[in-house]
Amino acid sequence: MSYPITVQTNDMARYVEELGRIGEQPGGGMVRFQYDAAWAEARDLLCRWIEEAGLEPHVDAVGNVYGRLVGEDDSRTILTGSHVDTVPQGGKYDGALGILAGLAALKELRAQSGRPRRSVEVVALCEEESSRFQANFFGTRAIVGLVTRDELDESRDVDGHSMATAMESVGLDPDQVGTARRKDLDVFLELHIEQGRNLQDTGIDIGVVDVVTGLVWERFTVQGRADHAGGTPMDLRLDAMQAAAEMSLEISRNVEDAGRPGVVTFGQWAVRPGWPSIVPASVDVSMDLRHPDQRTLNRLVEEAHAIAHSVAGRRNVQLSVAPLKDEAPTVLDPGLQAVLTESAARCGATTTTLSSGAGHDSQLMAHYVPTAMLFVPSLDGRSHCPEEFTDAADCARGASVLATALHQLAY
Ligand code: HGY
Ligand code: MN
Ligand code: MN
Repeated sequence: MSYPITVQTNDMARYVEELGRIGEQPGGGMVRFQYDAAWAEARDLLCRWIEEAGLEPHVDAVGNVYGRLVGEDDSRTILTGSHVDTVPQGGKYDGALGILAGLAALKELRAQSGRPRRSVEVVALCEEESSRFQANFFGTRAIVGLVTRDELDESRDVDGHSMATAMESVGLDPDQVGTARRKDLDVFLELHIEQGRNLQDTGIDIGVVDVVTGLVWERFTVQGRADHAGGTPMDLRLDAMQAAAEMSLEISRNVEDAGRPGVVTFGQWAVRPGWPSIVPASVDVSMDLRHPDQRTLNRLVEEAHAIAHSVAGRRNVQLSVAPLKDEAPTVLDPGLQAVLTESAARCGATTTTLSSGAGHDSQLMAHYVPTAMLFVPSLDGRSHCPEEFTDAADCARGASVLATALHQLAY
């Protein structure tokens, strides 16, 4: 019979604050990218905490950091965790909290319940955000066997460093990438901040996720013509920036007209040559388009392309579209959702079922391993910014629900 496993608030507060200092920028905001110095420092700190918690540490070939609570049957694994990397100027909770809650949960399970029947493991996934390389859930892709050796040479950061070189710089061997594959996983549970405001607005403690949104990333490249900003009349310009801006406004309006929960974001712009007195010759702009229904997502992407090409034709500029990411909407395991809901009740926490507007490793893992997610509240729904915050008591409550669910599955 399972009973509530309680994780202490001050344990969670300490974990979050200490890990949150690694990669924190002087003006606030986190920069902790795959295989950079902050990433390596975080890896070493997590290994230390894993050992202090009495768990068996292990770093795999791509830098996923594991802490294992060995069970009587050690042949299979119940896994929990999330990603250690951040977006540029991100917050201290996105990804990190799922690792720390898992660490705290296993520490309490070991202390309160001893050796489990089945082994339980926490993982700090090496990369999820694509902040340095277009790596896209890299830690999870290595675990499920979707990473090739060639990708490590082809994938380059803005400075031209290959992922393979970056791996070697933190003591990893790119030739061993295949050994990161796991075939012993029976369950994956990911605790994550909501990165929205439903829990705060409803006063509910825990969100149990039913669907993780589908998301498409593309890069639009608009090619116009550089001209003198003074001598070129407006009607004679081939202004790439004006065209790109019109595309983004019209596509945004189209997604808005389609109503919630579809969202589109044009967040990354590169304007060339980028000088006040030169009509922009070319623009790269990212499009991040999301919807939890695959058919609607497909339709919105097609409509976005039609709008962009229509604007390009009207303005007599060239448009090319490069695919960067394409993750399907993913329904999570109903049985594990029920375990999370029951565990929350045992901890005296209220729950609601939520879809996730953010993408997560779970949406990929779920195609290989029964997977479920639980959310804790985000203050004012803010995330991917220095203001990202979750109250320590909410962190501890989420970790206790996770620990109770792991107890039900492993003891
Ligand atoms: O973009 C996302 O939703 C996630 O943070 N990668
Ligand atoms: Mn994120
Ligand atoms: Mn995340």
